[in-house]
Amino acid sequence: MDRKPRRTLESDMPLLEGSDVALPRTLDAAREAAKLCTRCPLYLLGTQTVFGEGPAKAPIMFVGEQPGDKEDIAGRPFVGPAGRLFDTLLQEVGLDRAKCYVTNAVKHFKHEPRGSFRLHKKPDTSEIEACKWWLRIEAALVKPKLFVALGATATQSLTGNGRDILKRRSHFEQTADGVPVLITVHPSSLLRIPNARDAAAARQMFRGDLELILDRVPAAKAA
Ligand code: URA
Repeated sequence: MDRKPRRTLESDMPLLEGSDVALPRTLDAAREAAKLCTRCPLYLLGTQTVFGEGPAKAPIMFVGEQPGDKEDIAGRPFVGPAGRLFDTLLQEVGLDRAKCYVTNAVKHFKHEPRGSFRLHKKPDTSEIEACKWWLRIEAALVKPKLFVALGATATQSLTGNGRDILKRRSHFEQTADGVPVLITVHPSSLLRIPNARDAAAARQMFRGDLELILDRVPAAKAA
């Protein structure tokens, strides 16, 4: 058995090749293991772990922040309002979501009750760090050619620094292992722009970022 340490996302915590404990062999095994995750207290809040989904060898891995209310209930990433907008914008530029792996930096829904609503709360650094365990496993199994960081939390998880993303957006950076990371905004930020003209301009910029993906990884183009 090859027990050579593999560098993943960050070199400080190597996963062991060939070890079922540290590195499940398949995404399905990882998804099953993640259902029992207690690595941070957020498992107490969420309905379920929302693991990533997509082809096992997808060339692109989109990384969001954390599941929202709808994702928490459905158990799937990006199926609520931000996910629907994300799907629309992908389609508009000719990117096929079915060819991409879509996941989140944090796999449980962090929220607090507000009347009959569950109000989204941003994950903190310790929660992002704890959940990097699963993102590393997804990265090690899928081995994408390109990560796309959707917003500050994903950028923090993938690059170690989540600051100044408006300055860094539309640029390619790298994970600690040298895999390119395209930085862009989170699709939910596009839903919060009240002025229609500003919202249209922000969507256009987001489409521009998605087009950078297609230039780099044409295999993700819709048929
Ligand atoms: N926002 C995210 O970051 N991820 C989801 O899955 C849904 C909303």
